[in-house]
Amino acid sequence: MELCEEFFEANSPPADIQSITDGVTEFVREHHINGRRIAMIASGGTTVPVERNTVRFLDNFSSGQRGAASAEYFLAQGYAVIFLHRSSSLKPFQRHCASDNPLDWLSYGGRKLQVDTATSENLEGKLASVLPQYIEVKKNNSLHLVPFTSVFEYFFYLRQISNALKPIEKQALFYLAAAVSDFYIKPSDMPQHKVQSSGELQLKFSHTPKMLLLLTSKWVPKAFVVTFKLETEEPLLIPHAKAALDKYHHQLVVANLLETRRTSVTLVCVENQETVTMKLSTATKVSGICAVRELEDSIVSEIVQKHSFFLA
Ligand code: PMT
Repeated sequence: MELCEEFFEANSPPADIQSITDGVTEFVREHHINGRRIAMIASGGTTVPVERNTVRFLDNFSSGQRGAASAEYFLAQGYAVIFLHRSSSLKPFQRHCASDNPLDWLSYGGRKLQVDTATSENLEGKLASVLPQYIEVKKNNSLHLVPFTSVFEYFFYLRQISNALKPIEKQALFYLAAAVSDFYIKPSDMPQHKVQSSGELQLKFSHTPKMLLLLTSKWVPKAFVVTFKLETEEPLLIPHAKAALDKYHHQLVVANLLETRRTSVTLVCVENQETVTMKLSTATKVSGICAVRELEDSIVSEIVQKHSFFLA
């Protein structure tokens, strides 16, 4: 845990840390008074800057799909959601139009902007299932977005959000689906200015401290905490997920492989380290307008049940 404390001492907080903290604190106050549970979802990948005046950075594969889809299902289950996300990754609701070009939906004539029904036919179908929930969420102010880019921002914001959620104890649920860099460059090992292209580039990486123990033991010791485990080699996956539960003493790990993460996950629970594997084919069912039930729907349903049990 010392390494974690050192991380915060050695790095400057982001310039907007106070306004982020104020916004989150107010959001927690409003929804806790109304008796809502609050889910803190971390989503997308963190960057690792190469220079202090950052021109280049290292990134990872995460699209934010898992987190953004899960946020919608938590909202549908009545949770208020703090969505700590990589600024350029997928966001709840907006993700449904992420592959569209909004300019293609519109026509312009006689100084009037119109939605072009001929080109937006598919769009109407897509949005019909999403817009009612989105409008409801906006009306209830139940989604609070906190964007990050670098691993530094991620950890400073996560600490502040945890502080704000600590008083609500078991009502808070952490769903840590972000792909956080395991290595970073310390500011003391980072050049101030753009590295010039002449000559070889040598970078010194340090281990990013694992904040989970600090989170589960000090920041939010009473919260319901779900972490994620990603591997590319199947034999490592479940043993590593179980090892994480032993080490961090939290409630649940969602384990997934890079290649199959869209269609299969295994939930490893703290009670007897019981495992539940969910596959998209078995989770698929036709319901209303949505023909396909997303894997995140099943994951979130299971987790909400476990959170209810934890609260009882
Ligand atoms: O975004 P998508 O494209 O939809 O992909 C979803 C996903 C694959 C990113 C997601 O399902 C997932 O598995 N996220 C976690 C990936 C990951 O970082 O796993 P890990 O084994 O490196 O870390 C395990 C846990 O430790 C994570 O919950 C992370 O929040 C936490 N961690 C990681 C590094 C670090 N220095 N400190 C941490 O606390």
